[in-house]
Parts: sequence; C-alpha cells; structure tokens
Amino acid sequence: MTANFQPMEFEMETNRLSLSMGKESDASWYRELVAERGQDMPTLTVARDRVISIRDKAMEKGIAPLTIRRRDEGDYIGYSGLIIGRSTLEEPEIAYELFRRVHGNGYATEAASVVLHGAIATGSHRLWSTVRSWNAASFRVLEKIGFRRDHSTWDERGEIVWNVRDL
Ligand SMILES: CC(C)(COP(=O)(O)OP(=O)(O)OC[C@H]1O[C@@H](n2cnc3c(N)ncnc32)[C@H](O)[C@@H]1OP(=O)(O)O)[C@@H](O)C(=O)NCCC(=O)NCCS
Repeated sequence: MTANFQPMEFEMETNRLSLSMGKESDASWYRELVAERGQDMPTLTVARDRVISIRDKAMEKGIAPLTIRRRDEGDYIGYSGLIIGRSTLEEPEIAYELFRRVHGNGYATEAASVVLHGAIATGSHRLWSTVRSWNAASFRVLEKIGFRRDHSTWDERGEIVWNVRDL
C-alpha cells in the first residue's frame, strides 16, 4: 500500500455473512466457482496456488478479494473485495462473484456494502467496477450501493462499462 492508504480490513461481518481472507482449504470451492463460469475447472494444485497468491498479494498491496461465508449455514458462497483489476491500487475495483444457487437473495449487495465501507477506511477516494454491458444483475448491485455509469471501453469481447463511486 502507498503511504496515503491503510490496508483494508481482511475480516468483516454483516448480518448474514462473514468475509475473510481465503485459506488453502478454500481451493476446492474456488474450483467449483470457476467451473460454474463455464471455464475449465482448475486442478486442486492450481486453485491452491491461486489462493496463496491472492493472500501474498494482499499482504503486499493491502487489498484483496475475500471469501464470503453464510454465518448461519457456514457454507462458502463466493467472494467479494477490492482488486486492482483494470484500474489502479489508488482507485481499485470492487469485485464480487457468487454461486448461482444463492443468487437473488441480496447477498452480493450485502457483501459489497461492507467492502465499500472497508474501502472508505483505507483512505481511498474513488472506487471503480468494470462490467460487461449484458450483466444486468451486476449493474443493479452497483446501483444499489451508489455507483454511477461513467464511460465505456471495448476489447475483443465487446463493451466494458466503467462504473464509479466517489467515497
Ligand atoms: C452479479 C452477482 C454477484 C449478483 O449476486 P446476487 O447476490 O444475486 O445480487 P443481489 O441479490 O444482491 O442483487 C441483484 C439485483 O439484480 C437484480 N437482477 C438480477 N438479474 C437481473 C436481470 N437479468 N435484469 C435486471 N435485474 C436483475 C435483482 O433483482 C437484484 O435487484 P433488486 O434487489 O432490486 O431486486 C451474481 O449474479 C454473480 O455472481 N454473477 C456472476 C459473476 C459476476 O457477473 N460478477 C460481477 C462481474 S462485474
């Protein structure tokens, strides 16, 4: 993290959810999440290396995607957090992805809200989120936590909408 920023909180709670830094034991559900996107399921070794690399980068950069667990059920349902993504460490992106079986329960909004508060506590002045133009659910989550559409860029897969929230 640069001198002007504090590292984000890596353990956060909401009414229904616990967010925390991923552990090596999370590699198995991370594989399932990737497979659900329609991509090849990573091997356990690759998934474990990914979890370790996220943790190492978090220590270095002070931001991370955090695993989301339901407090009552105790199950892992996805992740949300801050990433550099297409933006910068000074103005990071908020990210979230949940298993389909839990969509539509307000979990992404609940997790992203606490991440947003975590971002404010780091001293960051602005957050971004880049979203494919077809992703209505993601736009709605952002709208509910106060983001507005700013501009678009394009890559080989089409339009990417840049959403912004001043903190
Ligand atoms: C985006 C995502 C995280 C949302 O998770 P979620 O827990 O279902 O989100 P929430 O329940 O908090 O809110 C979703 C909102 O989108 C709305 N929504 C869902 N599908 C929609 C659609 N096709 N059109 C319009 N609105 C839609 C819901 O009605 C809800 O809004 P509401 O509370 O006003 O009714 C989830 O769909 C996901 O994991 N998608 C795959 C990964 C992804 O796209 N990540 C974001 C990359 S930018």
